[in-house]
Amino acid sequence: MTSSSSSRVCVTGASGYIATCLIKKLLQRGCVVHATLRNLGDEKKTAPLKELPGAVERLVLFEADMYDADTFEPAIAGCEFVFLLATPLHHDPRSTKYKNTTEAAVDAMRIILQQCERSKTVRRVIHTASVTATSPLREDGGEGYKDFINESCWTPLDHSHSYNNTMVDVLSPFHNVSHSNISHIHVNVNESIHITSI
Ligand SMILES: NC(=O)c1ccc[n+]([C@@H]2O[C@H](COP(=O)([O-])OP(=O)(O)OC[C@H]3O[C@@H](n4cnc5c(N)ncnc54)[C@H](OP(=O)(O)O)[C@@H]3O)[C@@H](O)[C@H]2O)c1
Repeated sequence: MTSSSSSRVCVTGASGYIATCLIKKLLQRGCVVHATLRNLGDEKKTAPLKELPGAVERLVLFEADMYDADTFEPAIAGCEFVFLLATPLHHDPRSTKYKNTTEAAVDAMRIILQQCERSKTVRRVIHTASVTATSPLREDGGEGYKDFINESCWTPLDHSHSYNNTMVDVLSPFHNVSHSNISHIHVNVNESIHITSI
């Protein structure tokens, strides 16, 4: 990212592990950061962000939830860069709209990318995927792993493997579907927006 000191950057899931480090670095670089959390009343999550150097001058907190993704629009408005780091690990049982986290997250990605397009200011969207979405397993009937991994390697949604656990079961389909969804939507959004999935 080549940002000038005055760049305005949105980071979703601001209280998360990666997001907190990222926000610290962005503030150090002089960026204005729009950071989203689900609950601005949760001081355990907001306080560490408010204490970061530069936060008083250049950190703006917004409330936004992927189960109600329209809420991201104010945070995205006016930003040049958007980092999508929020991930719903647990399903919100109150939701009548979505059956599971995958449905909620994929729909949120769609809505957020439309907001980026509408903003007319967003130039680049960076989406954090996961290695759990990719699989270097051979598909030629042979055992073992492929010799290399690239963007053609995707974990099948019904894939069973020896290290299945709740985390992998949630993240793999979410990142797999949201990555392909994000790529598909990319084709349809304003071509001036670059989308990077890492
Ligand atoms: N850490 C790693 O080593 C690693 C490796 C590869 C990929 N990744 C990917 O990178 C991303 C960030 O990882 P991380 O480890 O920093 O995750 P994390 O610490 O679990 O942070 C994720 C954040 O998402 C937010 N969130 C949860 N449900 C939400 C919802 N319904 N709406 C909006 N926000 C919600 C949570 O914030 P609130 O509770 O405050 O709302 C949480 O702070 C994830 O997509 C992860 O899968 C991480």
